Amino acid sequence: MFSLACQDQSKEQRDDLKLSAKFIDKQLDDAVSQIKILAKNVPEDSLPRTFQGDASISSNTAWWTSGFYPGSLLYLYEHSGDEGLLTLAKSKLTILEKEKHNKGTHDLGFMLYCSFGNTLRITGDTATYKDILLTGAESLISRYNPTVKAIRSWEGWTYPVIIDNMMNLEFLTQATKLGGDPKYYDIAVTHANTTIKNHYRPDYSSYHVVDYNPEDGSIVGKKTAQGAFDESAWARGQAWGLYGYVMMYRETGDQTYLDFAKNIAAFILNHPNMPEDLVPYWDFNAPDLPDDSPYAADYKTNRDVSTASILASALVELSTLTDGEESANYLAKAEKMLQSLSAAPYKADLGTNGGFILQRSVGSIPHNSEIDVPLTYADYYYIEALMRYKLLLAGEPLHRQ
Ligand code: GLY
Repeated sequence: MFSLACQDQSKEQRDDLKLSAKFIDKQLDDAVSQIKILAKNVPEDSLPRTFQGDASISSNTAWWTSGFYPGSLLYLYEHSGDEGLLTLAKSKLTILEKEKHNKGTHDLGFMLYCSFGNTLRITGDTATYKDILLTGAESLISRYNPTVKAIRSWEGWTYPVIIDNMMNLEFLTQATKLGGDPKYYDIAVTHANTTIKNHYRPDYSSYHVVDYNPEDGSIVGKKTAQGAFDESAWARGQAWGLYGYVMMYRETGDQTYLDFAKNIAAFILNHPNMPEDLVPYWDFNAPDLPDDSPYAADYKTNRDVSTASILASALVELSTLTDGEESANYLAKAEKMLQSLSAAPYKADLGTNGGFILQRSVGSIPHNSEIDVPLTYADYYYIEALMRYKLLLAGEPLHRQ
């Protein structure tokens, strides 16, 4: 749709890549070994979610993370050419397909685009996959309210929209590009613009939840669900926002999104609480929690590996959409994150961790759920970041428009 000059340049290999093909291939080869162990632990009708206390925990297809395991299998099939991984992914697509009718969740981008979207990209089989994706996109926009100008995230609250929802917009822009109705693209753009207006603070940190009045679009409250407190910067939310606006720039060519992504990146990368290894705390405000915080006693120092995985993938892409020192800085930060994630204590020893690649992620501390565990989406975005880096090494663009 748009030709992005910087992206075109990435067809030639850049000369500032510090990670070698040998390093990247080794991480991806290890990921293949681990996912084959994981595959043995997953019941036929389920998708892997985490591994806790020596037990594999799976989900049904309606859970928001159901698309990540097939997506990881597909990236690793692309890396290795191992047809067994494609067969495993397709067996999960069979049970996942029914979610294209699910109007009860905003997570259809995660669920259907990471899975069916990647399958279509890899196989080119529009005859099989296009209708599934377009049906899913139609289900997703059933949650759009033109008065609020955003897609509803959860039930409950009044009309809650969470920053995570930025991640579902690529599904919509791509649905239009696949030949679907232009309304999908338009809704994605409108949602992204509403989020810029209402989710972000002047320092470019994001609230987790903005709750709206669906009758007039006014704001009922700005809150957190998974962060330390309403005004804190929940780490994964900042990562979803960065990834979301980098992606929206790639999808639309609108400079506003690139400028916004750069500002979010500055908030994250220059944060005084960003650890030296660039694997963030679960909340950027966690280390400074006052003693009366319910999380101060136990959770001041938990890292969230899933945040680092999402950031690494987003920053690799941002480095291809920017120039000069700016681009070099984003790339160097992504490289540091990938190096940290590819070693202890974050990368699990082969054969351990229930077959998940990474450990030490956090689902939700306020819900006392999935604390210091592996998570399927931490692995997915880590693999995606490695695959994107592999494309940089090959001098190929990350995305073809
Ligand atoms: N979208 C849910 C999460 O990031 O935990």
